[in-house]
Amino acid sequence: MTNPTQTSAWRALQTHYEKIKDVQLRQLFADDPRRGETMTAEAAGLYLDYSKNRATDETMRLLLQLARECGVAERRDAMFRGDKINTTEQRAVLHIALRAPRSVQIKVDGADVVAEVHAVLDKMAAFSDRVRSGEWKGHTGKRIRNVINVGIGGSYLGPEMAYAALRSFSDRSMTFRFVANIDGAAFAEATHDLDPAETLFILSSKTFTTLETMTNAATARKWIVDSLKSDASVAKHFVAVSTNTAEVKKFGIDTANMFGFWDWVGGRYSMDSAIGLSNMIAIGPANYRELLAGFRAIDEHFQSTPLEKNLPVLMGLLTVWYNNFFGAQTLGIMPYADNLRRFPAYLQQLQMESNGKHVDLEGRHVNYLTGAIIWGEPGTDGQHSFYQLIHQGTKLIPCDLIGFCQPLSPLKQHHDYLMSNVFAQAEALAFGKTPEELKAEGSPDFQTPFRVCEGNRPTNVILAEKLTPRALGSLVALYEHNVFTQGAIWSIDSFDQWGVELGKVLAKRIIPELESATEPELKHDSSTNALIRRYRRLRGGAR
Ligand code: F6P
Repeated sequence: MTNPTQTSAWRALQTHYEKIKDVQLRQLFADDPRRGETMTAEAAGLYLDYSKNRATDETMRLLLQLARECGVAERRDAMFRGDKINTTEQRAVLHIALRAPRSVQIKVDGADVVAEVHAVLDKMAAFSDRVRSGEWKGHTGKRIRNVINVGIGGSYLGPEMAYAALRSFSDRSMTFRFVANIDGAAFAEATHDLDPAETLFILSSKTFTTLETMTNAATARKWIVDSLKSDASVAKHFVAVSTNTAEVKKFGIDTANMFGFWDWVGGRYSMDSAIGLSNMIAIGPANYRELLAGFRAIDEHFQSTPLEKNLPVLMGLLTVWYNNFFGAQTLGIMPYADNLRRFPAYLQQLQMESNGKHVDLEGRHVNYLTGAIIWGEPGTDGQHSFYQLIHQGTKLIPCDLIGFCQPLSPLKQHHDYLMSNVFAQAEALAFGKTPEELKAEGSPDFQTPFRVCEGNRPTNVILAEKLTPRALGSLVALYEHNVFTQGAIWSIDSFDQWGVELGKVLAKRIIPELESATEPELKHDSSTNALIRRYRRLRGGAR
């Protein structure tokens, strides 16, 4: 493995950074009138304009050299081959197999995983058709009108995000909801207006041991059984998506109604595995296959396009540039599509669980920054709340602005207004407003300093034709491989998530301390002890 800071590209980038750190985008655009056309790349219907970044041709040349010295392409090839690149868990990383065509073979420990993927996809399609057509009936003989996905993290964020994104392709006669939080309010809100006899639960959990999901699953079981007055109702109202057959059986679900996936699919990379079952029921198997085709198109692009025209590589390298040389801590994700409202949350897990790592592949503490903080909201909403800080604050916040040329609604004028804001924001952030311009426009002198926008705020603009299943698949795969590129540069394991374990263990220890009738002897620190005591005093009522 390569420590990126020991490469000659890194050292050259440090020197180069000192030279160009104050260069203005205004200057870069004036020097090269074609910049806005040349600093672009396109694949699978996604157009990336990265010209409004604080980068020159030399910057890109050095970043690409960094990718070569860090072996990004070799690491990518190892992933596509099925090598166990998730070294801390000794696992292959093969979400790319989830969208590989039937004709492709990828072997893990001698078995062709693509054949297994298609067997599950076929089973999902048959089940989805039965639910959508009304052939699959609930225990009382009523048809299923409501589908609730119970899952958290990667077993929730992808399906919820994709459902919102693709609602206009979904069966509008059905209701789809997503319960993740262990806060009982989530379950209560999701079910309060539904008829249990018409409700199907999809229990989605890779491990089938996650506290939140198992607690909500047990509550769902009780809700169904109490209402339908029969344990046998479980068979018609629950299916499972998991890798853990034994636990699924223990819950009482017939494994004929279980949809499997594999340890080589990370939770946050699983939205196009059986974890997407609720999405397939919503949009139908044909649209779901379009979604997979969109993923596949970017996989092929990532695998075969030279690095200098490779969208995920370019985006990943620019994130490294801001993160490690400018010291930018965050990356804003601003989809100009209301249906992509949950996309920033989805990308938060994808990027922060993948690249929030403090040791390299050999377990040594890194001496450089890793994963950026990901956040965002749809435009134009964000413009009326936090964009002020991006435009005039003191922090450098690179942003990805994502837009679509065609609307999903017939309200075409709305769409022109929406998209005018994508272009306007990228322009305003890059070029700002000078005191001279303000003066010329008649701004009173006393206001000028407050109205100046310094500009030089970097953005990527991603444009696609329309938010279709195919486009969504491509967009998600773009970010998956972008995250991969960053992780490869930083020499970290982007596919484990040990950091989430400690909190889970401590919560399990605290549960009995909250549940016990009499106050237990508390052996935490003084703060935790005091908080537990206060909670016990004020929570009211017995459990
Ligand atoms: O706690 C983090 C995590 O392990 C995620 O990586 C995962 O997506 C989520 O929990 C849910 O896990 P599961 O699908 O096993 O319930």
